[in-house]
Amino acid sequence: MSPSARSLTRRKVILDCDVGIDDAVALALLVQSEKIQLLAVTTNTGNVSIEKTTRNALDVLSLLNAQSIPVAKGVARPAFTILLENYSKIHGLNGIGEVELPASEQFVDHRHAIEVFAELLEEEPAKSISIAVVGPLTNFAMFMKTYPALVDKIDRLIVMGGTTSNGNITPVSEFNIWADPLSAKFVFDNVSCPTSMVGLDVTRLATVNEEELDRWSRNSEWGSAIAQMVRGYLDINSNGWPMHDALAVSILIDESILRFESAHINVCTDSDENYARTLCDFKQEGDTSGPLISVALGVDLAKFRSLLTKLM
Ligand code: RIB
Ligand code: CA
Repeated sequence: MSPSARSLTRRKVILDCDVGIDDAVALALLVQSEKIQLLAVTTNTGNVSIEKTTRNALDVLSLLNAQSIPVAKGVARPAFTILLENYSKIHGLNGIGEVELPASEQFVDHRHAIEVFAELLEEEPAKSISIAVVGPLTNFAMFMKTYPALVDKIDRLIVMGGTTSNGNITPVSEFNIWADPLSAKFVFDNVSCPTSMVGLDVTRLATVNEEELDRWSRNSEWGSAIAQMVRGYLDINSNGWPMHDALAVSILIDESILRFESAHINVCTDSDENYARTLCDFKQEGDTSGPLISVALGVDLAKFRSLLTKLM
């Protein structure tokens, strides 16, 4: 298939992220997949500061020989949520496991992240761009507020975040939601395009182990660098390191990796033990005024690992 013909059939994606180690693996999958055309990468503060997440996004794209993909900064700080500076230990102080990458020669795009969303959605036919948010929802919420008419043009919004069970930053809340629950609430209460929440229920199962990292290291120089990042990742369980963001974006490549059920999602924003909890009403017994969100409840780990084998 000719490159131009191939680009006609590839799924157009914008990745909004807080690079982050599992964000870097998600970037690798999107860049390596022939089914994906990664149009832009946008950044915000999450795992580490926006200065570091932006630097990391540029350098990881350069590592992947994808320097032509624009990187645009978004909102540096959520307006009304206080981010704690001391959480950066999970991904290392530099956000990528203390791995030092060669600096990209690319400059940050001059546009704000939400202007990149808007320009691409205005340029492309309706329902031809999917947006994956694998960090706090600060940028996407501001985009919805600023360009409400463009949200309908999005083919699919994928959110890595939330949980219907245990959290990872508090007993009941997941980090991306906890980092900016007011933005998450606004998105889940008002989003008008098809939206999927890929939360810890499935992402904590999507682990890679040392054997898999060794395979990445043998396969390529970039694979070796990303494997080294994962080894510096302090989010680890008995089965290995959970690839939260990589699993979330994997459904843009193979829809069948995850199984979803619909629910209304109430993001708790009161300062109590439920702070930043994503209460999922599958039986629609509560407030049904908001949109129905597809919540990932099942994962085909064999298919996910097969995708990693193919692309990493
Ligand atoms: O809870 C997991 C999420 O928080 C992932 O996106 C990880 O990168 C961190 O941002
Ligand atoms: Ca992330």
